[in-house]
Amino acid sequence: MARAARALTAAGVGPARVEAELLAAYVLGVPRGRLALADDLTGDQADRLDELVRRRADREPLQHLTGLAGFRHLELAVGPGVFVPRPETELLAGWGVEQARGRPDPLVVDLCSGSGAIALAVAQELPNARVIAVERSPAALAWLRRNAAERVAAGGRPIEVVEADVTAPDLLADLVGRVDVLLCNPPYVPVDVVVSPEVAGHDPAEAVFGGTDGLAVIRPVITRAAALLRPGGAFGVEHDDTHGAAVPGLLAEDGRFADVTERLDLTGRPRYATASRRADGQQAPVGPAWQTDSS
Ligand SMILES: C[S@@+](CC[C@H](N)C(=O)[O-])C[C@H]1O[C@@H](n2cnc3c(N)ncnc32)[C@H](O)[C@@H]1O
Repeated sequence: MARAARALTAAGVGPARVEAELLAAYVLGVPRGRLALADDLTGDQADRLDELVRRRADREPLQHLTGLAGFRHLELAVGPGVFVPRPETELLAGWGVEQARGRPDPLVVDLCSGSGAIALAVAQELPNARVIAVERSPAALAWLRRNAAERVAAGGRPIEVVEADVTAPDLLADLVGRVDVLLCNPPYVPVDVVVSPEVAGHDPAEAVFGGTDGLAVIRPVITRAAALLRPGGAFGVEHDDTHGAAVPGLLAEDGRFADVTERLDLTGRPRYATASRRADGQQAPVGPAWQTDSS
């Protein structure tokens, strides 16, 4: 374990001890918390751990090595071709769950669904919700369909998977004015930003980069969200931490949203913006165009 942690530290992977323990637990088939009680590694297991440590030191994401990513109460299958869900996106998913909770049979849409993290978390936490996941990448769709099928195999209500470009002006045309909650974690990193080796080498570029200013997908998604949401419907979109003013600004500028709020993540960085669909004809209240919520 010490040797594994040293190799990971030397490669700039951290927290190295935690990652070494997670890999050892994976090889032994036990939760990390039970490692101290587990049998010693056999020779084959030690070789397997060495190989995984070598790949992790080459900056392959931990989740690709184990094939699983934790997200809220879920474990999702992930690997090459799909974006690894991030802990900060759990906040957006949780916000969406709270918006839909209490509404009878809410219709929830997850745009840019990737592995299905947000859509499947909402479906798990709100069994009465109708959940639609939209994704364009064939490789990501394969992972999304696999995770959606696992939910059904476990007895859950199916989610609906739609293959589409979320920037299309006629996206989900049959749902105009009917969606209760619309969530989106789009590609949002400006193209010239240098990302970590894990991201550069393993997250698909189309999952990460959002054009020159990082807003290429967010702009059309805001426009379409305003069309798809019913009056009072809730919208939440994750964004780059440099866009804590730009994204709420775009929402306010659209003119069809109320309660525009910028929300911070657990490290205090601007992480996602939320709003509710104003009823047509409803006047904007006097006051600032948007507010920040750090709670
Ligand atoms: C940042 S990832 C988010 C994945 C997942 N929602 C999550 O939070 O883990 C963005 C996803 O959007 C997809 N995507 C990018 N552009 C798209 C477009 N124009 N239409 C549909 N999906 C798109 C990518 O393939 C990728 O799966």
